[in-house]
Amino acid sequence: MDKLIVEGGHRLEGVVPNAGSKNAVLPVLAAALLTNEPLRVGNVPELSDVATMLKVLADLGCETSRTDRGQVVVQAGGSSDQRAGWEHVRKMRGSVCVLGPLLARTGRAEVSLPGGCVFGVRPIDAHLKGFEALGARVRIEKGYVIAEAPAGGLVGSEMFLGSAFGSTVLGTANVMMAATLARGRSVIHGAACEPEVVDLGHCLQAMGAKIAGLGSPRVEIEGVDELGGAEWSVIPDRIEAGTYLIAGAMTGGRVRVAGCRPDHLSVLLERLREAGAPFEVGSDWIETQPFEPRDPAQRPSSTDVTTHPFPGFPTDLQAQWMSLMTMADGISVITERIYPDRYMHLAELARLGAHVRREGTAAVVRGTEHLSGAPVTASDLRASAALVLAGLVADGETEIHRVYHIDRGYERIEERLGPLGAVIRREVDRT
Ligand code: EPU
Repeated sequence: MDKLIVEGGHRLEGVVPNAGSKNAVLPVLAAALLTNEPLRVGNVPELSDVATMLKVLADLGCETSRTDRGQVVVQAGGSSDQRAGWEHVRKMRGSVCVLGPLLARTGRAEVSLPGGCVFGVRPIDAHLKGFEALGARVRIEKGYVIAEAPAGGLVGSEMFLGSAFGSTVLGTANVMMAATLARGRSVIHGAACEPEVVDLGHCLQAMGAKIAGLGSPRVEIEGVDELGGAEWSVIPDRIEAGTYLIAGAMTGGRVRVAGCRPDHLSVLLERLREAGAPFEVGSDWIETQPFEPRDPAQRPSSTDVTTHPFPGFPTDLQAQWMSLMTMADGISVITERIYPDRYMHLAELARLGAHVRREGTAAVVRGTEHLSGAPVTASDLRASAALVLAGLVADGETEIHRVYHIDRGYERIEERLGPLGAVIRREVDRT
């Protein structure tokens, strides 16, 4: 296992290209199961989660290859294996999105239940409800979801997919994929509006699916007999972009995230504006502007955020926002409405001298003028990113252990931030 050592106190400056979106590419790769023809996916980020998804697909009988940098070709075999085992699914919950396409094309899918994760229970009941609405019989046996289509295949229907915490991103993706090959029309009410779901929908359209209402809570799908191969390039990763913009704001540097989608980041930009962190926006770039966040007259203002489904503030930027707020002037309240327990980073930020405490499903942060480097442990992907950000402004060195989490969602973060002036090294962790 590796650790990252971040030396604080360096202002970042430069251009960082935005990689392809992790949460868009995972279901897009799974969509290859809907056809026998090859699906060529471009702008694929080099992440361990992508490698895991390719292993899941290989286990399901797909041939996978990476052509040149960033392009992956997946071709499902004629007789797909129908079982995705615990080995990979436990590593990455996202692998559950093979259920829908596998069920739709082969009539049967067996996928290990992903179980909980470090920030909560994370059920998939809404996914299963959607498959049942399409006529599938679904049962849980020995830790596996077994879904079987009725004779003649899935049948289109109208359903509501929202959960107690709002819409479900992968649930919408899963059921939308299944419905593309169902007989007749399906309507998903309470569909997730996230750009990643829209991107998947566009890829499915390129494969021949008939889908309307993408990006709205009412998605309508007219089933077709078969889908074909396609070439698709995934959208840029808004969470990676947001993380690097927050890094720019925290260090007071000029950081340009190039090749991003500003329209996917409106709420973050609004909050940065409120916090007094200057930035400029172009058609496909955002650039933080230099200021002195440590100057008492220019410190970022405390700014509350509450996470919500898109277009609300993303839960996947909550931890990073908290890092920014640890250096703000005043008290901010950060409320998590998607995953009420996604606060593992609090204790680790506190080790760096941040004043953070939990108050029910909210966290209260009192900004401080001084963080100081310390050994910390990353609990999950976004928490790791938050610790890297805090390390950039803490005095001395911050040593982040269990850093493998960060490689799930950020392409070699030390190599991306290094050219901007960050001093980060990766070492083998012998502790
Ligand atoms: N929920 C249910 N029942 C379900 C599904 C979800 O109650 O059947 C609840 C969840 O427990 C949660 C809420 O609904 O409280 C939203 O969960 P959602 O299903 O939208 O999450 P997901 O699809 O499993 C994706 C991302 C997450 C991201 C969330 C929310 C992928 C691979 N994962 O998960 O990304 O936090 O949407 O936006 O797309 C990350 O990248 O770090 C990450 C965790």
